[in-house]
Amino acid sequence: MKNLTNNKCGSVSKKDVNSEVKLSGWIHRRRDHGGVIFFDLRDDSGLVQVVYNPELKEIFALAETCRNEFVIMVEGKVRERPKGTVNKDLDTGEIEIVGSSLNILNPSLPIPFQLDEYSSVGEETRLKYRFLDLRRKEMQNNLRLRSKASKCIRDFFENNDFLEIETPLLTKATPEGARDYLVPSRTYPGSFFALPQSPQLFKQTLMASGFQKYYQFARCFRDEDLRADRQPEFTQIDLESSFVGSEDVINLVTDLIKKIFLEVLNVDLGKFSTMTYQDAIMNFGSDKPDLRNPLIFEDVSDLFLKTEFKVFNEPANSEGSRVACLRVPGGEVLTRKQIDEYTNFVSNFGAKGLAYIRVDDPSKGREGLQSPIIKFLEDEVITQLLTQLKIEKGDIVFFGAGPKKIVNESLGALRVELGKDLDLLEREWAPCWIVDFPMFELNASKEITPLHHPFTSPKCSKEELEEDPLSCLSDAYDLVLNGIELGGGSVRIHDHEMLSSVLGILGIDKKESEEKFGFLLSALQHGCPPHAGLAIGYDRLIMLMTSSESIRDVIAFPKTQTASCLMTEAPGEASQEQLNELQITLDKDD
Ligand code: AMO
Ligand code: AMP
Repeated sequence: MKNLTNNKCGSVSKKDVNSEVKLSGWIHRRRDHGGVIFFDLRDDSGLVQVVYNPELKEIFALAETCRNEFVIMVEGKVRERPKGTVNKDLDTGEIEIVGSSLNILNPSLPIPFQLDEYSSVGEETRLKYRFLDLRRKEMQNNLRLRSKASKCIRDFFENNDFLEIETPLLTKATPEGARDYLVPSRTYPGSFFALPQSPQLFKQTLMASGFQKYYQFARCFRDEDLRADRQPEFTQIDLESSFVGSEDVINLVTDLIKKIFLEVLNVDLGKFSTMTYQDAIMNFGSDKPDLRNPLIFEDVSDLFLKTEFKVFNEPANSEGSRVACLRVPGGEVLTRKQIDEYTNFVSNFGAKGLAYIRVDDPSKGREGLQSPIIKFLEDEVITQLLTQLKIEKGDIVFFGAGPKKIVNESLGALRVELGKDLDLLEREWAPCWIVDFPMFELNASKEITPLHHPFTSPKCSKEELEEDPLSCLSDAYDLVLNGIELGGGSVRIHDHEMLSSVLGILGIDKKESEEKFGFLLSALQHGCPPHAGLAIGYDRLIMLMTSSESIRDVIAFPKTQTASCLMTEAPGEASQEQLNELQITLDKDD
């Protein structure tokens, strides 16, 4: 078959005037204008206008049958657009192609939504007809950027002597804390593979295998509640190195992220800040603070130790509780209705109320403040508040009092809302490393669980760990960008004794650990070097780089919030024959 195109739609320009071109693409839009037919012809490079005149009778008649999204081949001559018809919004807006031939390569059924009117259809329709949705410029650009970033990442790792090694998808469960996707085995009826939640166990095994620098674009599978930045199937940029510590990994990944932003977006991310987990929680109420937002918590528990105002006095005096506040410069513009909405909002996090002080004139002391709680506060407390918080005219100060977890979560979320509503964000990008995480935390059932995964190295000795596990810190680090957790990693436990101790604290006995990851335990005892690594959420990275609202906008074929694919209609039923082969009987009511 002959070549169907010699030129790209988006790159025909004034210098081609009077040349013959051959283009293939989709009819983006068809317009009839007083006996002349116009096509905006689209390919992956852009749009160009093609004109068909009625003089060429047969061709014109064929053009009349064409509809949007027909795939056609066009031959014609480039000419300057007549005066007054230049389209400044289009790269090729100065020229048009006078069609001399038209070939319909493939017609299209009427499309369920026009590509530039996609936002009026629900996301469900877009996902069902994903092949159409992906034709949109925005989606094309997102996936193009994703591919460009992949190349940049591969170059980085290759230049730094990392080896790309693939690890299995049909494997055993990985302890990353989510539910597994299971795949039944035909050859071992009653047994199941698990799809990996991450390549964690394999990449550590690779370190024991003598590959000192590993990386992979790794597919991961987690059956968990989905949100705008989570998918059941997602991609990590996964890496691991031997004979390195946390600083090496942090420096390497900082360099990597800076390079990607510079090469793909021409953005210099500048310096990455570093913050301890404890500071992040105390100051921002979150271990993934958005540092573009200038608001910061002030702990005022000490001011209320002796106040008569019970709402603040009790938490100020009790271990595990706090009184914290957010001073919002210029916050006086908030209306009573907005404050009521915020009060409602924080109640979703368990907050019992949202006290506030609106500052008219701080020099007048009590008289210059408006607040439902002011009458409960002693003069001395008010004076101290004004000084400690450096309160200024026009501020509003919000207070949270109660159990630390509730205050941190509710004020932390309020901080994010205020940032959006009052347009407070000061920078476009704010990368930050969070370090010194606790090793363990108590889950809702008060069981001890790892904050990362069980292979994370503690910063203390085995004895200290066993004595007071909940106060031990880990050698883990998370990368946060604009309030989103972009990546996480740690120095690993390479010492078998230490790992046994951690597994003991987690209540994982010898039998269970042998069953779950016996191979890694064995590898650790056969000359495994000290090692550390990290994984970046690749989809999240691209979501941030393309300013997309949802992770679904940077994945070609994503799943819905309920983990299904509307285009393929997966998951689907298995045939009786397949079930028989797998020796699976379904327990169905119908
Ligand atoms: P972690 O579980 O923190 O660490 O995952 C690393 C990064 O992967 C991204 N991520 C997700 N992205 C989209 N959808 C999801 N459901 C999802 N879950 C996680 C996040 C996260 O920061 N093995 C360790 C890494 C290591 O220790 O080296 C791990 O998987 O951006
Ligand atoms: P109350 O005594 O419950 O009417 O509360 C008096 C004021 O304190 C109201 O403005 C409440 O919104 C506020 N308030 C009550 N509980 C809390 C709390 N836990 N944290 C912050 N403010 C609160």
